[in-house]
This record gives sequence, C-alpha cells and structure tokens, in this order.
Amino acid sequence: MTQQTEKDRQFLFIEQAKEYVDKLAEQLGRRPLCNVTTFGCQMNARDSEKLSGILEQVGYELVDTEDADFVIYNTCTVRDNANQRVYGRLGFLNSMKKKKPHMKIALCGCMMQEDLVIEKIKKSYRFVDLIFGTHNIFKFAELLCTMFESDDMVIDIWKDTDQIVEDLPVERKYSFKSGINIMFGCNNFCSYCIVPYVRGRERSRNPKDIIREIENLAADGVVEIMLLGQNVNSYGKTLEEPMSFAQLLREVEKVDGIERIRFMTSHPKDLSEELIQVMKESKKICRHLHLPLQSGSTRILDAMNRRYTKEQYLAIAEKIRKEIPDMAITTDIIVGFPGETLADVEETIEVVKRVKYDNAFTFIYSKRTGTPAAAMDNQVSQEVVKEGFDKLLKIVQETARERASMLEGLTVSALVEEINEQDSSLVTGRLSNNTIVHFPGNQSFIGKIMNVKLKECRGFYYTGELVD
Ligand code: SAH
Ligand code: SF4
Ligand code: F3S
Repeated sequence: MTQQTEKDRQFLFIEQAKEYVDKLAEQLGRRPLCNVTTFGCQMNARDSEKLSGILEQVGYELVDTEDADFVIYNTCTVRDNANQRVYGRLGFLNSMKKKKPHMKIALCGCMMQEDLVIEKIKKSYRFVDLIFGTHNIFKFAELLCTMFESDDMVIDIWKDTDQIVEDLPVERKYSFKSGINIMFGCNNFCSYCIVPYVRGRERSRNPKDIIREIENLAADGVVEIMLLGQNVNSYGKTLEEPMSFAQLLREVEKVDGIERIRFMTSHPKDLSEELIQVMKESKKICRHLHLPLQSGSTRILDAMNRRYTKEQYLAIAEKIRKEIPDMAITTDIIVGFPGETLADVEETIEVVKRVKYDNAFTFIYSKRTGTPAAAMDNQVSQEVVKEGFDKLLKIVQETARERASMLEGLTVSALVEEINEQDSSLVTGRLSNNTIVHFPGNQSFIGKIMNVKLKECRGFYYTGELVD
C-alpha cells in the first residue's frame, strides 16, 4: 500500500470516529473530554501530540486531568519504575471507570511492545479498552473506530514496521516550539537497553518531508525546533540517497522563521568532525549538546556495547569544549550495570570531573527482560549501587554548579515559554544552552525570543531582567 492511500484511509476513519464521538456528546449533553498522559522521552511527547491531533479532529476536548471520558497512557519502559507508575495509576483509573461506565481507557507506547506486559494487562487489568504499540500509532483513528464498535478489549500490536506515514493531524503542546521526528527506532543494541526491541529498526525520514514539515511549522509561528531520534548522528545512513546529519542540519538552518535548532540524542560513536564544524558555524543551532556517557570505564562501556572507549569519549568532549566553548554539554550515566565495581564508578567520576557537565542525568541500572545485560550473572548488589550512585551524584552536582554560574552578568537571548508557576509576575525563558531564566514579564512575552540580563545564578537557574 502506498503512503498516500494509507493517509487517505486514516482520514476516512477520522470522519467515522467523529460520528461516534458526536453520538457520545449527544448522550452526555456536552463535548466529551479526553486526556493524554505521557511517560518517557521526547519521542513519546511527540507521539502524544499526534494522538492529540486526531482526538481533537474527531471531536474530543483535550484536558490535563485524568478525570475525563477517555484517558490514554502513552507509556515508557526504559526503566522498571516507569512501568510501575503506569500500573499504579491504572488502579486509580479503574476506580474512576467504576463510577463512569462510559469511560474509555487506552494504553500505547513502548511498554505495550512487550509480551509480558500485554499478558499482565489481559489478566489483571481487564477494564482497559484499547491497546496498541509504537509501530501502528498512525492508525489511531482506525483503532478508535474499532474500540467504539467493540465491547471487548481491542489489542493491536505490531512487531516492527518499515512504514512512515506522513501528514496526519498534530496538536502541538506549545505554539512556538515543536519536536520533529527525523528518524525512528534504533539499531545500536546497547546491552542494557530495551529501546531497539520496542521501537524497532532505525529508519530515517526523507529530508524533503522533514524540511517541508519544518517550513509548515515556521509558517505556523514555530521559532524553535528539536530534531528527534534515538541516535541523530547516524541520520540518513539508510536512505536511498544517503545524507549525513550535518548535511541535514545545513538544510534546516536555511528555513526562514526558525530561529533555534536543537536535537536529541547524539551517540558519541557517530559524532563527526563535520557535525562539530556545522554546530560551530551555525547561527541557529543551540549551545547545548546532550552526549550520553553511560559509563567512564572502558571495560563497562565494552560490556554495554557502546562502541567507544573512555579516551575516545574524552577526546570528543574536549574537542567540543575547545572549538565551541559556550556549548553546554549534558549527559546520561548508568550506575550498577552488571559487573560494575566502585573502581569503575571512580573512572566515571573522573570523566565527569574532566568534562564538567552542565547537567547529568544519573540512573540506577534497571534490568530489562530480553536484553543481553539482563542475562548477565554478575548483577550488582543494592549496597554497592547506592554507594557508587551517591558518590557520583555529589560530583555531578558540584561540576554542574560550577558551570551554571558562568553566564552571570551577561545579556543573552531567551525564548519565553510560560508564566512562572510560583510567581505570576515572572515569566520563564530558556537560554540557548538550555538553562532557565525567570524575569519580570507577562503573557504577551510567551513565544518571543528576548534579550535578558542574567542577574543572579541560583543553583540551576538564573534570575534576570529584560533588556530593550
Ligand atoms: N538513545 C539515547 C537514550 C535513550 S534512553 C542514547 O543512546 O543516548 C535514555 C537514557 O536512559 C539512556 O541514555 C540511559 O542512560 C538510560 N537507560 C537506558 N536503559 C536503561 C536501563 N536498563 N537502566 C537504567 N538506565 C537506562
Ligand atoms: Fe538504547 Fe543505546 Fe539505542 Fe540509546 S543508542 S536507544 S541507549 S540502544
Ligand atoms: Fe521510554 Fe520508549 Fe522513550 S522506552 S525513553 S518512551 S523510546
């Protein structure tokens, strides 16, 4: 089936789903409310915007609370605590559904790609109405129709796909910034990670489709975009006419109206010299690079199948610090990978001290069924994990604090994202390097890029004032 006809098919289902939702609205005497709750990463956040686009089109009113007529959990399974949160909240949804029998509940996202999860839901969470996975999210309108037509739990999970369906409706969370998928899936198979199993093989979108989407976003008022992929540095390798990520960035830079470009996530093994040059020369690429380290011990990196050594990582980080000194570098680190000793953690700490990360997300290793690391017999005891984790966290916080105050006193540009949650006389803006500034302002500032003087650094954010 060609892409065009799949898209057209889905638009027919949107029309059909509208009729079901209209009928429900008549019964309720009001427009039905729908809630999409997102767990996990930026990819899931973007997927939720796609789900929201369809829901809006078929007549639901989107709300932030789960006290709604239809609740969808877009799930994550990267660590076990993400799964536990979903199960916990499902119990709460069940109690709501008992009071509101017309209520519908759907589950989608990465967790649903796991057989064990589906078995558990079929057994213990019979009240769920619809389950689908990551590969068939484009047929959400069709699945909605099936759900309305069925009294049983509807389950549709695909093992993988090579299909990319373009141009379905999207409802953005922010009017002024947007994520854009440039690729799907992952081929890296880091030995601890479940993502390649639940998101499938790496597929890059056609650059023309990406640029067209960005042009449309710019025309719609978007000034900041984030290019999304599990490993953006390997973008384009599988295209019919291969293209590098650096080349794609050059094309994106040309789109008028787009002022800021971000991307997530870079894998150190594929970070090219060409990319460093493009970042250095660019007027639009933000001064923030997320470069996951995972471990500073070459032995552990090898067992993790990361395909770089401690020295190679340090060389890349030092090169970036030298070529682009104002570039913030952030990272992800896992503590407690099978076989990791406190001596390995010391090596990680050494890297943290040398790179001086602007921010680092530290995770305790979580065993994911089906990954090679889960079958390793040298799992680390909780005490050792805790000792290493606490030590690392302390150093991470120290180096981040050291970097954070660097811009104090300077005037920089900030994209205003929202009214401050604690104090409504302030607005919250994001600097190019991804740190936050709070400064006096009002609703009319939102979505604008403004010059702000950074008066004081308070740990991980600044207070500032507008400069004309
Ligand atoms: N594609 C990205 C990461 C996606 S997952 C990359 O390669 O950098 C986000 C982060 O979750 C990872 O960087 C890793 O630090 C963490 N993570 C992944 N699997 C994990 C596991 N089994 N236990 C603990 N943390 C994990
Ligand atoms: Fe997981 Fe590694 Fe792929 Fe990142 S690159 S998603 S950590 S397998
Ligand atoms: Fe989680 Fe899936 Fe993202 S497992 S981190 S939501 S790709």
